[in-house]
Amino acid sequence: MPASVVLGAQWGDEGKGKAIDQLAEQSTWAVRFQGGNNAGHTIVVGDTTLKLHQIPSGVTYDHCNLVLGDGMVIDPWVLEEELDRWHELTGERPEGVRLFISERASVILPFHRLYDGADKVVGTTGRGIGPTYRDRTERVGIRFADIAGIVDDEQALSAQAQRMTKQLSTVGVEEAIDSSSLKSDLQWILDRFGTAIKPTGVMVDIALRNGENVLLEGAQGAMLDIDQGTYPFVTSSVTSRANATHGAGIHPGHVEECFGITKAYTTRVGNGPFPTELSLEEGPGQHMAQIGNEYGTTTGRPRRTGWLDMVALRESNRINGYTGLVVTKLDVLGGLDELKICVGYEMDGKTIHVMPTTSEDLARCKPIYETHVGFPSLSLDEWIEMADSSRNEGTGFDAFPDVIKQYIERIESLAGIPVVSVGVGPDRRASVASKGGPFDFPSAEATF
Ligand code: GDP
Ligand code: IMO
Ligand code: MG
Repeated sequence: MPASVVLGAQWGDEGKGKAIDQLAEQSTWAVRFQGGNNAGHTIVVGDTTLKLHQIPSGVTYDHCNLVLGDGMVIDPWVLEEELDRWHELTGERPEGVRLFISERASVILPFHRLYDGADKVVGTTGRGIGPTYRDRTERVGIRFADIAGIVDDEQALSAQAQRMTKQLSTVGVEEAIDSSSLKSDLQWILDRFGTAIKPTGVMVDIALRNGENVLLEGAQGAMLDIDQGTYPFVTSSVTSRANATHGAGIHPGHVEECFGITKAYTTRVGNGPFPTELSLEEGPGQHMAQIGNEYGTTTGRPRRTGWLDMVALRESNRINGYTGLVVTKLDVLGGLDELKICVGYEMDGKTIHVMPTTSEDLARCKPIYETHVGFPSLSLDEWIEMADSSRNEGTGFDAFPDVIKQYIERIESLAGIPVVSVGVGPDRRASVASKGGPFDFPSAEATF
């Protein structure tokens, strides 16, 4: 059986966690392939809300194996906190049993966090992501496979500690990293996670050969991709489909489906251009922020809000070739008189339909909108009722009023991608799947 990829189609926080959680019911592996704990993926099941940073979002199904893959940068201390929270909630300790850390993944150390804390340009999450990827690219970083070799090598430890201290001083951080604390940190990682560190690419490859379903869980989003996003206001990894298999340690031929997750509007955390941005103080931008509860899952920062941007979505489809689009948070738009979709930009008096390459040019783009009539706001229970009725009666999007169906059809036609699921609330059950589509399966358990 094949692998399916789930990717953020915008600037992150589109609802990837919820989509993975839904698909995991029918999958035996969920693999994170890039990023680290800059990600914050939310799963809501009944009264329980899980905020995951590194644990893959298939965790709620105990048949689902979990991989923190080759392409990731991993903070072991944050992972311990996440695993402790999971243990408190369920009594399970999945590490080394069904949760595995790739030998090839890079270790985020206190040095990386300190260095990232000095960022004043990008508005990073401060979790050490960029500095850890930089060490990897410079070929001086420590991977999980390397820890056992370095932990007793006093010379190597001392060289690392000196390098880190020197680099910190270049960004005005006067903290010294000493080799004995580096040694004890690395020893702790080995003691805590030794049994979970595995050649995970080999394991996932075997699963695929055995006919199992594998989910590849993206973090961040297409517009935050280091190569294809709004550079330099991006994250430090390749967030796109091309890296999904590579970062999981398998080949691209395994992938059959690639789902792009997009909000029915747009949000962005951190700095950088955002053509359809609205005011957070009034009007629809404030409505989206308040009703959508738009605060960063990782840092708690308020998310910037704006209308759906088709130029950005088409750009993201160019990179990723989505086989299906998941439109999330449609419910949040309820109660707005009119809805806008950006269908092009005006730049220097010219109409363009492709994103300019530089952030400077993108910052000068003004959105060109088409306007649609809005729909009334419903309570969460009413939305869930609509989703349940669609699921139970097999009516797909016919469960929606016409005005919503037309809005979805317009998104499909502007994006050139079929919409396969529409989110109408945070809960696992609060989605309406397209009839016969890849999200259309009978059960949506209310508990785990
Ligand atoms: P991710 O990083 O892509 O996994 O997304 P986040 O978890 O950071 O942010 C998405 C937020 O929207 C979370 O609080 C989700 O619980 C919530 N969410 C997801 N889908 C929907 C939806 O369809 N409607 C509403 N109202 N909230 C949703
Ligand atoms: P999920 O997976 C939204 C943003 C940061 C900053 C930029 C670089 O939950 O969608 P970094 O710490 O990665 O070096 O920061 O990227 N960013 C995210 N924005 N969702 C995320 O993850 C993000 N991860 C990073 O705000 O602008
Ligand atoms: Mg998030």
